[in-house]
Amino acid sequence: MIIAIDGPASSGKGTLARKLALHYGLPHLDTGALYRAVGRRLLKDEADLQDVQAAENAARSLTAGDLNDPGLRDEATGEAASIVSAMPGVRAALLEYQRTFARQPGGAVLDGRDVGTVICPEADAKLFVTAAAMIRAKRRADELKARGEPADERRILEDIEARDRRDAERTVAPLRPAADAHLLDTSNLSIEAAFEAAKAVIESAVRK
Ligand code: DC
Repeated sequence: MIIAIDGPASSGKGTLARKLALHYGLPHLDTGALYRAVGRRLLKDEADLQDVQAAENAARSLTAGDLNDPGLRDEATGEAASIVSAMPGVRAALLEYQRTFARQPGGAVLDGRDVGTVICPEADAKLFVTAAAMIRAKRRADELKARGEPADERRILEDIEARDRRDAERTVAPLRPAADAHLLDTSNLSIEAAFEAAKAVIESAVRK
């Protein structure tokens, strides 16, 4: 069974994907981590974030070390990821890895922006997870505070809105729900309630 979970930054899709993977005993791929790893490599190499060649080279040569870099969740890395993810060559370089992961025997859970539309249009169940931008900003601020990092909620909201725009407006694989995706708005849902709603969607999709 392949489960595709897409949605904007801090919508809760990562938490949901991890819980679903555990529940169904499936491997999980956070596809955003691939783009973050590319962005992080450019930051570390002090390369220009608009340097398409450097970004494509990084995408083609990602290592396990890049994917486990402790700085992957940093705000600056998220911003860099959003920039490099608009480059067609970067997306092309990461495509096969994601498709192979999804099509392994038994299936997988993948979360990202284009899993249901580009990576796995054939997924058995597709969820598009959203939440109001203010709520996503608050969640992100709480996450940073829990890690002991400073969190300016207003600035985080501005960053989230800018990232949403960039992810949705890019020409290649823009953030949008697949026609057959089930929309799940988590604005007023606890993690547990979102998990229950997602399971209901998946079980009904699989029965069909
Ligand atoms: O989900 P995230 O915040 O870790 O994603 C980081 C960036 O990577 C995000 O701004 C858009 C990009 N991304 C993408 O373009 N396609 C994906 N499948 C996953 C992430």
